[in-house]
Amino acid sequence: MKGLFVVFEGQDGAGKSTQIAALKAHLESCGREVILTREPGGTPIAEKIRELLLDRSNAGMDAACEAYLYAAARAEHVQNVIRPALERGAVVLCDRFLLSSLAYQGFGRQLGEDTIRNLNALAMRGVEPDCTFYLSLDPEEGLSRIAARGEGKDRIEMEEMDFHTRVRKGYLHCASKDSNIHLLDARQNAQTVTAQMLELFSHYLNPMIEK
Ligand code: TYD
Repeated sequence: MKGLFVVFEGQDGAGKSTQIAALKAHLESCGREVILTREPGGTPIAEKIRELLLDRSNAGMDAACEAYLYAAARAEHVQNVIRPALERGAVVLCDRFLLSSLAYQGFGRQLGEDTIRNLNALAMRGVEPDCTFYLSLDPEEGLSRIAARGEGKDRIEMEEMDFHTRVRKGYLHCASKDSNIHLLDARQNAQTVTAQMLELFSHYLNPMIEK
């Protein structure tokens, strides 16, 4: 595929939105077509699944049901948005992807990494990120940033701290095994994180310009 698939990951409050916006602005200034999208969501059906997943009144949802719903939303998103954009040569910037399912459902819900990979194979059908940025932050700090913003918590953010700690371990475990997952220390100020992110990203963009 001609395009480039870039994913931003991290626990709630780590600052993904700020960094995605910075990369979008950078790419547009280079004249690239950029598609900004998110998971769960990105298509009308996937956005409906998102509502089900984040609705606080669905507390107590079975873990397998949750994992299938995230994968179901991903299937819609990959087929209707991500794959066509990559085939056109666009740069796709996605707020969360498979790594979220590995961390939250695989480790947080303790369904296991392999189970989540297998369950998502049908949803992804060969579409894998070229590059992932993981905004690394302790969950305590992320959740206190959210509280400071005065935003309400969704169903996942409402989970107890043990859950968020397992998610964090999942992220670190997966990032340590994959050289295309770049860890950014999200305790630093946003401008510093952006500078590091753009430097890492330049290695992906340069070969693309030569295509
Ligand atoms: P997010 O879009 O980051 O929520 P917000 O709009 O509040 O920033 O993500 C929604 C939540 O879904 C987040 O807590 C992480 C969770 N999630 C999973 O558990 N598994 C997944 O596969 C994905 C994509 C998200």
